[in-house]
Amino acid sequence: MDEAKLHQFVGQVLGDLGGAFSVPMVRIGDRLGLYKALNGAGPLTVAQLAAKAGIAERYAREWLSHQAASGYLAYDPAAGTFELPEEQAMVLAEPDSPVYLQGAFDLATVMMENQALVEPAFRTGKGVGWGDQSQCLFCTTGRFFRPGYENNLVQSWLPALDGVAAKLERGADVADVGCGHGFSTIIMARQFPKSRFVGYDFHPASVEQAQRHAEQHGVTANCRFEVALAGDYPGHDLDLVTFFDCLHDMGDPAGAARHVRKTLKPDGTWMVVEPAAADRLEDNLNPVSRLYYAASTMVCVPTSLDQAVGAALGAQAGMGKLSEAIRSGGFASVRKATETPFNFIIEARP
Ligand SMILES: C[S@@+](CC[C@H](N)C(=O)[O-])C[C@H]1O[C@@H](n2cnc3c(N)ncnc32)[C@H](O)[C@@H]1O
Repeated sequence: MDEAKLHQFVGQVLGDLGGAFSVPMVRIGDRLGLYKALNGAGPLTVAQLAAKAGIAERYAREWLSHQAASGYLAYDPAAGTFELPEEQAMVLAEPDSPVYLQGAFDLATVMMENQALVEPAFRTGKGVGWGDQSQCLFCTTGRFFRPGYENNLVQSWLPALDGVAAKLERGADVADVGCGHGFSTIIMARQFPKSRFVGYDFHPASVEQAQRHAEQHGVTANCRFEVALAGDYPGHDLDLVTFFDCLHDMGDPAGAARHVRKTLKPDGTWMVVEPAAADRLEDNLNPVSRLYYAASTMVCVPTSLDQAVGAALGAQAGMGKLSEAIRSGGFASVRKATETPFNFIIEARP
């Protein structure tokens, strides 16, 4: 036994546990508006934050102390004040920032709640239906992915696809499949008013929510939502079909690929956004893949296993397996058009 290695590993696990213990703390800070109250306010005492956020002072003191010990707030012992640094604010307090991660803390809660459903499935090998999982999974997923879509979709992902942005400007027909709460669909509909967008998802409650979002964002003139499976959504002669972070969740990705091919025009494009991953596990031993493998075990694999075929590609499938599924639908050209540290943006053409 190497004592130095033991100390190092205990240190690592303590750090991990610090993150795990912080999940309810960060979510309370988010839900009660504590980060919002701190954001841009400069240094605040316990009493000042408590008054500003309308919370009890004793809880405020304990919460602020934890946040200072976490490095989330700067503490000035001489003045007895706490301040949210600008960089921390981007991650914790600014929903439109490209590195806003509050949704990931919500997702951590979902995964803990899902344990009761997924643990028995480890023995049976069966799946757990998307609609049966933790009730905040649906809003959480949307919240987790939205900042990435807001900051990348129109700015860099669509322009990376051959000729697609120009078609959308002129007026194109688009299906956004597995659209969940519809953030991706609405962002595109807002940007391209001459194009027509239909979001499809097999989860009725998500489709209802997406329709409400469309109304709130005033895009109902060129955007609507319907309940449908990826393998048989209506539509034909489409210019663009998009799948955002959902192909690997589907039971039959190859079947979905075949259906996409049927609904596209001969010169149409299928855009598949998937979690970034290398093909081999040994190349995925990093912090981002660590998060994805956990989410994959607790959400994505059970979702796929619950459906017909149950291919269970997992959230770290990599380009090799993804390309295979996409090509099997009759797509001759498959390429990675662009990527971020979290996502691959794949362009497939017949
Ligand atoms: C991880 S969520 C992504 C949602 C959304 N695209 C986003 O990026 O926020 C996966 C979505 O795929 C949907 N889904 C899974 N299997 C499906 C299938 N076979 N047909 C249609 N939708 C499916 C789920 O209901 C869920 O909304």
